[in-house]
Order: sequence, then C-alpha cells, then structure tokens
Amino acid sequence: MEAAFALLISLLLLCSRASPPVAAEPLLDRVALLDFINNIRHSRPLNWNPFTPVCNNWIGVSCNDDETRVISLRLPAVGLIGPIPPNTLSRLTALQKLSLRSNNISGSFPADFAQLASLTDLHLHSNRLSGPLPSNFSVWSNLTAVNLSANLFNGSIPSSISNNTKLTVLKLSNNSLSGEIPDLQLPNLKLLDLSFNRLEGTIPQSLQRFPMSSFLGNSLQVFPTSPSPSPLSPLPLAPSIRPVPRPNKLGIYLSETVILGIIAGSCALVFVMFGLFLFVFCSRKEQSSASGKPSGGDRSPEKAVAIKEDEKNRIIFFGGSSLAFDLEDLLRASAEVLGKGTFGTAYKANLEDSTTVVVKRLKEVGVGKKEFEQQMELVGTIKHENVAELKAYYYSKDEKLIIYDYLSSGSLSSMLHGKRGEERSPPDWETRLRAALGAARGLAHVHTQNGGKFVHGNVKSSNVFLNRRQDGCVGDVGLAAVMNSAVPSTSRTAGYKAPEVFDIRKATQASDVYSFGVLLLELLTGKSPVYAGGGEEVVHLVRWVHSVVREEWTAEVFDVELIKYPNIEEEMVELLQVAMACVARSPEKRPKMPEVVKMIEGVRQVEPGRRRPSTDGDSEGSSAATPTAPSLETRHRK
Ligand SMILES: *[C@@H]1O[C@H](CO)[C@@H](O)[C@H](O)[C@H]1NC(C)=O
Ligand SMILES: *[C@@H]1O[C@H](CO)[C@@H](O)[C@H](O)[C@H]1NC(C)=O
Ligand SMILES: *[C@@H]1O[C@H](CO)[C@@H](O)[C@H](O)[C@H]1NC(C)=O
Ligand SMILES: *[C@@H]1O[C@H](CO)[C@@H](O)[C@H](O)[C@H]1NC(C)=O
Ligand SMILES: *[C@@H]1O[C@H](CO)[C@@H](O)[C@H](O)[C@H]1NC(C)=O
Ligand SMILES: *[C@@H]1O[C@H](CO)[C@@H](O)[C@H](O)[C@H]1NC(C)=O
Ligand SMILES: *[C@@H]1O[C@H](CO)[C@@H](O)[C@H](O)[C@H]1NC(C)=O
Repeated sequence: MEAAFALLISLLLLCSRASPPVAAEPLLDRVALLDFINNIRHSRPLNWNPFTPVCNNWIGVSCNDDETRVISLRLPAVGLIGPIPPNTLSRLTALQKLSLRSNNISGSFPADFAQLASLTDLHLHSNRLSGPLPSNFSVWSNLTAVNLSANLFNGSIPSSISNNTKLTVLKLSNNSLSGEIPDLQLPNLKLLDLSFNRLEGTIPQSLQRFPMSSFLGNSLQVFPTSPSPSPLSPLPLAPSIRPVPRPNKLGIYLSETVILGIIAGSCALVFVMFGLFLFVFCSRKEQSSASGKPSGGDRSPEKAVAIKEDEKNRIIFFGGSSLAFDLEDLLRASAEVLGKGTFGTAYKANLEDSTTVVVKRLKEVGVGKKEFEQQMELVGTIKHENVAELKAYYYSKDEKLIIYDYLSSGSLSSMLHGKRGEERSPPDWETRLRAALGAARGLAHVHTQNGGKFVHGNVKSSNVFLNRRQDGCVGDVGLAAVMNSAVPSTSRTAGYKAPEVFDIRKATQASDVYSFGVLLLELLTGKSPVYAGGGEEVVHLVRWVHSVVREEWTAEVFDVELIKYPNIEEEMVELLQVAMACVARSPEKRPKMPEVVKMIEGVRQVEPGRRRPSTDGDSEGSSAATPTAPSLETRHRK
C-alpha cells in the first residue's frame, strides 16, 4: 500500500517537473528507499523528501554516473532502531556500498541482502544484529570490505567467505561467534579482525600471517603443534619450556636468557598462560554447578559469572593510579613473559588502552590474605622516583598478582648479562653509575618506610631497572616478607645473600646493604654474583673480588668492557671501595643506605682527569669506606 503510494508520488513528481527535461531518475530505487525509511524508526530526521530528486540530494544516497541506479547508501549513526524491513533495501540491486554502522539496528542479518550481488563494501558494525552470519557469502562476488564488528552475531564463521577472493578487509570482532576458524584462503586480505568472540581451536595456517591482535579475546589454542590436544591444558607447557642449561661461563644467567629467547618469539605463550586463569575460573565454576548444564562452546558467560562470584577478590589499585582495568582485561591482554624470578613469573601485559604493565604471578606466597594485604598496602604507599611503583595487586586463593609499571629498559641483570648482539651492547660506565646511584637512593628511601624498619629483602640486579630518566630504580620491594621461607633460594639469589642470613624472611636492612654491595661488584666486574669458574667449581663474586684485591691485582677486577672508557679508573676504584664496604662480613661494619648514597654521590663528583681532593666535607662517606676497603694504590700506579 505504502509502496504504491510512494510510486504514485514519484510519478506525480516526474510529471509535474515539466522543464528541465526529466533527468533519468532511479525511480524504483527511490521507492525502495522510501519503503525502507518509512518502515524503520529513526531518531534523526533525513531529508528524503519524495518531491526532490534522489541523486545528489538525499542524505547518504549516491547514484551511478547516468543517475539510473543508486549505488551507495551511507547512513551512519542516524539513529535507526529495530530490524531492517524486509524487501526494501534488497531492491537496490545495483548497490555497491552500504553503510548502516553505529545505529541501533536489531534482528538477524537480512536474508534478502543476498540479492545485492554487486556489493563491494558492507559496513554494519556497531549495531545489535544477532543470529548467524549469512551462510552463503558467495553471492557477493565483488565484496572487498566487510565490517560486522560489535554486533551480537553468533554461530560459526561461514567457510563460504573463502569464495570472496577480492576481500581485503574482514572484521567480525566483538560478536559471539563460536566454533573453529575456517581455513580462509583469501590472498588479498589485508585486515582481519576476529577478536573478542568465542572462537576455539587453532588458527589455520592461511591466517597465521595476521598479528595476534586479530585473534585476541577468544579461546583459541595458540600452539597448534602442542603435543596436548586440549586447548585448555596450558599448564603442562610451563615445565616443558625450561631449557637444558647450556654449559657456558655465564651458564646460570644464560639459562634465563634462553628461556626468554624461546618465549619472546611467540607472544603466543601469553595466551596460554593467561588462558590458565580462565581455565582455573571456568573449571571451578563447572565443578560448583554440577547440575547437568550442557557444556557447549558457550564459555564466556560462565567466565563472567565466575569472576563476579569472585568479586570480593578485586584487583586493588593504589591511589592516584591512572590505570583502570579489571581482571578480565588482564586476562585478555596480550602479554609476553619477561622472566622467571625467585617469587614467580613476570609478564609484560599490553592492555587494550595501550598501557603496558608488568604482572607478576607470585607462587609460594607464605602468608594469609590479611597479612598479604597489609604488606601490599605498605608497599603501595611508597612513592619515589627510584622505586618501581606498585600499581595494584590481586589476591585470591588461586592467584596472587602484583602489578607494576612497565619500564622498557629491562633489568640491570639483562643489560649486564643478557645476550649481546648487534643492537645490545653492555651498558657504559655512565649508565652503570646512574643505575647504582638511583638504586641506592631508592633503597635508602625504602629503608625509611614503616618507621625506618622496612626491609627490601631481595636486592639483586634483576630487580633494578632504569626509570624514564635513565636512573636506577628498585623493584620487587617488600615481597620477600610475604613469601614462603621454604622457597629454595636458587644459586643466583644465593650470591646476594649476606652470610648471616639463612631465611629470606629474616633479611635485615644490613643484609640489604650487603646485597647492594654485591650488585655494585656486579656492575664493576660485569660478572654474575655466582658464576661457573674455569672448571667445575662455582665462584662467589665477593670472595673472588676479595682474593684479587688482596693479591693487588685490582685492575683484573673490572669488566673488560669498561677498560675502553678513558679516565674512569678513579671512579671505578672508588665505587669498588663502596662495594667492599657494603659486603663487609660483619653486619655492624656495613654502612647504612643513606651513607652509601653519599659515597656514590662522591664518586660522581670526581670528574675525569681532575685530581680528587684529598680530604673534604664528605667525611661521612669516606670514613665509612676506609676501614673495610683494602688499599688500592697499586691500581693508580699502573
Ligand atoms: C538501542 O535500543 C535499545 C532498545 O530499544 C535502547 O535501550 C538503547 O538505548 C538504544 N541505544 C541507542 C544508542 O540508541
Ligand atoms: C563485479 O565487478 C566487475 C568489475 O567492476 C563488474 O564487471 C561485475 O559486473 C561485478 N559483478 C557484479 C555481480 O556486480
Ligand atoms: C569496523 O568496525 C569497528 C567496530 O565498530 C570499528 O572500530 C572499525 O574502525 C571498523 N573498521 C573498518 C575498517 O571499517
Ligand atoms: C551460494 O551462492 C552461489 C552464487 O549465487 C551459488 O552458486 C551457490 O550454489 C550457493 N551455495 C549454497 C550452498 O547455497
Ligand atoms: C544464537 O542466539 C540465539 C538467540 O539470540 C539462540 O537461539 C541460538 O541458539 C544461538 N545460536 C548459537 C549457535 O549459539
Ligand atoms: C563457495 O564455497 C563453498 C565452501 O567453501 C563451496 O562449497 C562452494 O562451492 C563455493 N561456491 C562458489 C560459487 O564458488
Ligand atoms: C570490543 O570489545 C572489547 C572488550 O569488551 C572492548 O574493549 C572494545 O571497546 C570493543 N570494541 C568495539 C568496537 O566495540
């Protein structure tokens, strides 16, 4: 009825326009458009006036050159509400471009769009379309760009998309698509986005050239060649990535770099690791709701429920933190393993809003929730430019996470001992000195906390980073206190442990100073605190330095990489004295951290080439250094 009316009006219009000769008007198309707009609610008015020509006049409508057909319809964000009325737009059979994005269109994908055989661009993203995707994509043989993102489509991805060989853009993200990704042979595809659906299985070979971001937020198994067939068995992977340590003089450290090397290549692992969380939550949920619920691919709602149930275990943010994310964001983040430390594995996680954080999964937490929270609250209040800021933490029965800012420099340990290639060179003297001074300041500040009783407990080069100003910065603050004391200290951490400390939870400020001294020696010598000597024996850096210095072979102590810088001998010797003071055997003989800071500041005041003033006001520092430091005069004479 309405169609007839519209047609009548159109005819009237054409008849009444005597002069200028009637340009060819896409008559049937205009009727189709009117039928469409008259049968769908739209909150913004359109100027689709039946008495004006369609081409070059109606908002969003374009015609072909001779104005005989409508070939493009763009109505983005005009407030269309409800389903697309059937048999309206489908009559625009010459239509090439259709954009109805960012409206409020609901219902299923209009089946009659199959008649739009000339479609090249189809943009229906950001609506509320639901149900399955069209099953036969082959009907649009000229299709080049499809965006159906951010709708409510469910079901699987039709394999017929493979027939659309001209396709360059395919965006199906933020729907509820499930099942496996078909092997889409689309040689011209440039952009693919399947993220945030419920897809399962593996990424087919043909699509592995696309970045991980194309597949985020699904339950995909990222190691297609994994020996275990189940997508939800990431856990066994963890041990298997542990490499066989290679015999090498830096063996102890290399094993870590090897781990990193293996992992870095595939961001993939990340998903597996984070998938682990999902696994934990989902499996727990499944156990608790033992009722006969179908265990279809519908995993997502369960996940949401599980996390809600766990609500009292929220991620706790510290004041002033600009971060805002929940556990779910974290689970969905792409991340890569940064390293495995004494207390757990650290990941670099890229959140969707492009902030990067370090997430540390703690294993072997040795205290209850309350004590953990108290300690974290204490750590969270520490704000200092030389202390890596704790941003947030999360505590539940199964997961303990702490979240720091990501510092791109990497740790001092990786700078000193990491694999050296064309791009990586060992840090120069300036860098090492700044790292030492910054870390000393950070540690001194940490020691002022909790009424001057706060202990770091795990000072080592893999916990020292460079901040944005390239100054040293200490991380992992206060974790030792919450960890299980039964954690076997690896030979690496053993090298930093003061002789009087047997239980890491019994660390003191004096033992922190000792560890810091070892770190300084590490900076000076370029050697690990414990390293394999020539043969089988393990060499303790402190003992070795002592022996070399005692034999007056001081020059041999320093990192060969540093020898090439001119005029830094005196500074190196001074820093060595600071280090020796810190690693004094008896805790009472060691300087306090503020003194250490002053001493290191003194080192820098000595400018290259200029003679050091013999005595000055900086007496506190030098007096602390002299008693334990051996004479190093031999070095100067050389
Ligand atoms: C879309 O429609 C739903 C239901 O009709 C309504 O609740 C919602 O506010 C609408 N959204 C927009 C952006 O208009
Ligand atoms: C596809 O595009 C080609 C070249 O532009 C055109 O000749 C052909 O008619 C189009 N096919 C359809 C079904 O419109
Ligand atoms: C596809 O749709 C998404 C979701 O609305 C949007 O963010 C994206 O820019 C679109 N991409 C293209 C290429 O149209
Ligand atoms: C899909 O559409 C193409 C082209 O119209 C047709 O040849 C083919 O038979 C259709 N396939 C199915 C499964 O309907
Ligand atoms: C898709 O969603 C509809 C409800 O919107 C539901 O009836 C249907 O079973 C779902 N299909 C799949 C494959 O999940
Ligand atoms: C399109 O693809 C489907 C499945 O991949 C296939 O069965 C069908 O024959 C193809 N149709 C055309 C017209 O190529
Ligand atoms: C897609 O979903 C993610 C996660 O829910 C959300 O952050 C993102 O904004 C969504 N994108 C669009 C275009 O709706």
